This record gives sequence, C-alpha cells and structure tokens, in this order.
Amino acid sequence: MSARRLYFPSRVPVRLGSRRYDVLIGSGQVDRFLPEVRRLRCGTHPVVLSNPPILEKHGRSIVKALSRGGFPVRTLTVADTERSKSLETLGRLLQGLADLDGPGKRLFLVLVGGGVVGDVGGLVAGLYRRGIPYLQVPTTLLAQVDSSIGGKTAVDLPQGKNLAGLFYQPRLVFIELEFLRTLPARIFCSGLAEAAKCGVIRDPALFAFLEETSVLELRESQEKLGWLVSRAVQVKASVVEADERETLGIRTALNFGHTFGHALEAATHYAGTVTHGEAVAVGMRVAAEIARRLRMIGSSDADRIRRLLEHLGLPTTVHGVPLSRILQAMSHDKKWSAGRSWVLPTRIGRVAVVRGVAQRLVRAAVQTVLEE
Ligand SMILES: NC(=O)c1ccc[n+]([C@@H]2O[C@H](COP(=O)([O-])OP(=O)(O)OC[C@H]3O[C@@H](n4cnc5c(N)ncnc54)[C@H](O)[C@@H]3O)[C@@H](O)[C@H]2O)c1
Ligand SMILES: [Zn+2]
Repeated sequence: MSARRLYFPSRVPVRLGSRRYDVLIGSGQVDRFLPEVRRLRCGTHPVVLSNPPILEKHGRSIVKALSRGGFPVRTLTVADTERSKSLETLGRLLQGLADLDGPGKRLFLVLVGGGVVGDVGGLVAGLYRRGIPYLQVPTTLLAQVDSSIGGKTAVDLPQGKNLAGLFYQPRLVFIELEFLRTLPARIFCSGLAEAAKCGVIRDPALFAFLEETSVLELRESQEKLGWLVSRAVQVKASVVEADERETLGIRTALNFGHTFGHALEAATHYAGTVTHGEAVAVGMRVAAEIARRLRMIGSSDADRIRRLLEHLGLPTTVHGVPLSRILQAMSHDKKWSAGRSWVLPTRIGRVAVVRGVAQRLVRAAVQTVLEE
C-alpha cells in the first residue's frame, strides 16, 4: 500500500437536507477558509472560541483570514481540559456572547480546538438566541475524525458525561491537517482510537491501512494522514446521514467502545489521567472480549482489534481502578442504563447492537483489562 499514491477527497458532504454541510480536508489550505465563510453567509460578526495556547498556535491564522475579509473578529477562550465541558463554562460563554452582541449584528461562532471546544462551543451556538450558525475548525485528530462532525454538542454533569446537550449541526467543518503537527504524541494517538473505531464498525480497508502503517508514518506523511482522516470522516458522515438524531439505532454504532470508555472516564473523575481516546481504546477491547465470549466474533478478529490498538500506541489495560468503581460508573451511564445495550463487533467492519448482556459476562470481560 505504501508505494501507491493515496488519493483523498478534499470535500466530503454531510447530506442532511436543509442542514447539509461540507467537511473540507487539506494541508496548507487556510486560504480556502474565507471564501467558504463568504459563500455560507453565516453572519456579520464572527466570534472565535478557542483555548489560549491553541488560539496562539493556530487560531491566529483563522482570525487573520477573517479579518482580511473585513470581518470584525472577536475572541472568547476556555481552559483546555474536560472540566471546561461544564454548566459554569456554558453560562460564562453565553454571557460572553451577549456582551459582544448588539443591534444589527449577526453573530456566528468559529470553534478552533479539540473536542472539548467543539462540544461546549456547539452547545453555546445552539442555545444562544435559540441557535446561531457555527463553524468547526478541529485541531486534534480526534476532533477531525470524529467530534467535529455530526452535530452532537454537550457539557458534562457531575452524574455523567455529555448529559446536557443538543443535536445542532455546524455549517462547515474545516480540517487543516497542518494543525496536527503540534499535537503531543499522546493526544495524537488518542485520536487514532476513534479512527480505529471507524474501521471496526464500517471500514475494513481503513482498519487494514492502520494495521500496515506506523504512527510515525502517519505523523510524517500528510498524504497518509489525509487519507486516514478522509476515510474516518466518510464513515462518520454516512452514519450521521442515516440516523442524524440516533433514533434508528444506526448511529449507536459510533458508541462502540464508549460504554466502558465513558465509565472509565467517570471512574477517574475526568482527571486527565486517561484521555477520551485511551478510554475508548480499552472499551473497544472490552466490547471485543464480550463479543468473543458470546461467540459473536472469532478469536482471530478479536485479537486483531487488540493488536491494532497496541500498534497505535493505545492502552488495552487499566491500572489502579477498582472493578467496583467502574461497574458503578457504568450503571450511571445513559448508554448503559437505557436498555443496557452494547455495541459489539461481529467482524472487522461490522458491529451489532445487543441488549441484555448478562452482568456476569460484562464483569468477566472488564476483569480481563484491569491490572492491580
Ligand atoms: N461530539 C461528538 O460527537 C464527540 C465525539 C468524540 C469525542 N467527543 C468529545 O471530545 C472530547 C475529547 O476531545 P479531544 O481529544 O480533542 O480533547 P481536547 O479538546 O481536550 O484536546 C486535548 C488537548 O490537546 C490540546 N490541543 C488541541 N489542539 C492542539 C494542537 N493542534 N496542538 C497541540 N495541542 C492541541 C488541547 O488544548 C488539549 O489540551 C471529549 O470531551 C469527548 O467527549 C465528542
Ligand atoms: Zn468518542
């Protein structure tokens, strides 16, 4: 595969009728941003929301592009941790927008950052004046392949992750691959977990590509990275198109690895000891283990999933978190309690949603990933 030139589309549509939008993918393409914003006629007054360091590293090029087009750009910032996905931050940002608003202004938001900025910023956009337009400019791999697409916005509550949110679609997702060059290795690998997830649920070719490509190659080759991002984006877009609001059970497939993953994040109190992608990686192994024990997937495919995660520099075990704490967190999770459904792989490229998995089986599978 490495000798072949890898073509990837620079524009992937998310076809949602009147809420349709495009995902632009490219390297060194910030020049494309302003014409797109003009074409979309989102408003008159852009507000760029970001984290202070990301605003300095990457947001400035977006601010400059908008200023060049004559837009009076203002900025708002949030701290760069999961704790920013809170009601407190949400309230502060809504008031921040109200302060910037005024007669004749049509505000729109430009979210420059990872999944945290995208999730809280999307919710702010959905709530302010019952909805203003927003654009996603994802700067982590996880946000580029997953969270910026599909319109799921949320903040966390003490009782659980993403409990307060809206489905509210962006008007554009602008993916600049160059922004990923500054990502620390660990955050880069976390994003690979969601890309691997796309491979398992829908795209065997993406899965095989990840098996054959090293993390170093992905970091060094914009062509390989672009191919990977575009495949994952296409998986995400097609799932969202088929089931925008997760009412038909199709979008549920994207929760593969997340039942355990969210519980692990909650059990560690979102303290940053485990990233979202790392939690999902261990969760994918747990789901594969449950599926193997139910004889829904062959041992060789279940092993391929575990080996791929290791190959991508992701954890497949957890240290120092007691089983009881994880099981308790799972009983609070909405995906677990709502009919106790699990997304289980049946082979590479296909998953099934299974209800009523026995507690005993879940406990045994979880135990295989816990280390003292
Ligand atoms: N809405 C969805 O559909 C969806 C899907 C998956 C995940 N999520 C959410 O996404 C969040 C995780 O997102 P994330 O992994 O992007 O985490 P994040 O937003 O916390 O970013 C991780 C870290 O990377 C830094 N960073 C961002 N861009 C950078 C860059 N280019 N260079 C250097 N550092 C950079 C950030 O400042 C932060 O410290 C979780 O809250 C998760 O629940 C949402
Ligand atoms: Zn996720």
